[in-house]
Amino acid sequence: MSGADGNGGGNGGGSGGAEAGGSLRPSVTPRPTSAAPPPGAEPDAEAEGGSTEDPDMELLRNLLARTLGLGTEPPERVLDELSLTGIARFMQSERCRRVVCMVGAGISTAAGIPDFRSPGTGLYANLSRYELPYPEAIFDISYFKQHPEPFFALAKELLPGQLKPTVCHYFMRLLKEKGLLLRCYTQNIDTLERVAGLQPEDLVEAHGTFQTAHCLRSSCRHQYDLSWVKEKIFSSLVPKCDKCQSVVKPDIVFFGENLPSRFFSLLQSDFQKVDLLIIMGTSLQVQPFASLVSRVPASTPRLLINKEKTGQSDAFMSLMGFGCGMDFDSDKAYRDVAWLGDCDEGCLALADLLGWKKELQELVRKEHAAIDAMAAQEDTSSTSGGDPKSRRGRADGSGGRTESSGASSKRQADGKEP
Ligand code: OAD
Repeated sequence: MSGADGNGGGNGGGSGGAEAGGSLRPSVTPRPTSAAPPPGAEPDAEAEGGSTEDPDMELLRNLLARTLGLGTEPPERVLDELSLTGIARFMQSERCRRVVCMVGAGISTAAGIPDFRSPGTGLYANLSRYELPYPEAIFDISYFKQHPEPFFALAKELLPGQLKPTVCHYFMRLLKEKGLLLRCYTQNIDTLERVAGLQPEDLVEAHGTFQTAHCLRSSCRHQYDLSWVKEKIFSSLVPKCDKCQSVVKPDIVFFGENLPSRFFSLLQSDFQKVDLLIIMGTSLQVQPFASLVSRVPASTPRLLINKEKTGQSDAFMSLMGFGCGMDFDSDKAYRDVAWLGDCDEGCLALADLLGWKKELQELVRKEHAAIDAMAAQEDTSSTSGGDPKSRRGRADGSGGRTESSGASSKRQADGKEP
């Protein structure tokens, strides 16, 4: 997804070329750019107990101070070891009370949802049937207004409610239950965090959600819920407003649209007080989301669980003085840890070190069993003969979270169960 102007406050890493700019619309950019809120998305810092300072200025000052070493003590090293074990020991200490997770499409691939940029399997490599001018056009608001059909055809395949959250989603639920989760910032629109039991207040859905939809016509903006939209999409119809017949668009953030105001209102306070940042399943290629890694205090450890390293400072950015991307390997590395591999396995490994592994496995088993039981019940009671896939799981945040009946859990699509 690209096409909009850049924003954000630092080098979230990645390479990829796109324009750096000044708005807060999603863009693929490696450049540090402005983080001024979009119109109508002023940070409600006071309400959130955060600073009322201009976030751009604050970030710039921190970056300069850190880079030039002006007026700042060298950052404290709080990890006794730059490894998953070191992270686990830190999490068990008194100092780790607030964890922020930043997640992307890689945490949902085990649920059968493709990510965007993985070569061969990623969404952007598999859109030829839609005959788009360029892959990201499918999520471009200007293109969508002219040609909504490709997006809705794709949505039929991607719509939440067909799939089960992964081990990684339930690991975040466990963090919440342990009182450690300050917030989960997600780029995903599949709502699996909600299905896994995170509540709206636990979440910042930075790129929106399928949960609600609105009529595109500015004078109407009538709201629709997911089930209404799903019914249209599964009938292969472009959803049209009952009131004015304009196209109804799910509330996911397209290129060319602003991020939700909640993103800007919460990030200042959350990222000032976070004790540990856990980044999972993201290429950190899209701003302003990617720049969040640079917003944590200088001593805050950052753990990346991903197939490959992402979010590192590149030489150009370091030269420009924006060297606050992640540093896993240099001899100056002091707080960043990369665990490379599958997100679910990384979460299980961390859970193991924390003594939570059995609890996590039991949570996944119980929740998946409840989702299966609910799907089976709906399949049985259905007389319409509709697509049973459309009824798998629930995207309303309640899915699978009825108390488990103890029914045996169906294996996930990829055959992987912890
Ligand atoms: P990407 O597809 O860019 O990156 C996914 C990352 O997860 C890659 O680094 C993969 O190697 C990794 N990955 C995939 N499966 C994994 C697994 N099972 N375990 C570990 N790592 C895995 O997806 P995002 O970073 O989420 O924008 O993309 C960000 C944004 O770009 C999306 O939100 C979307 C897109 O254009 C908007 O919707 C605005």
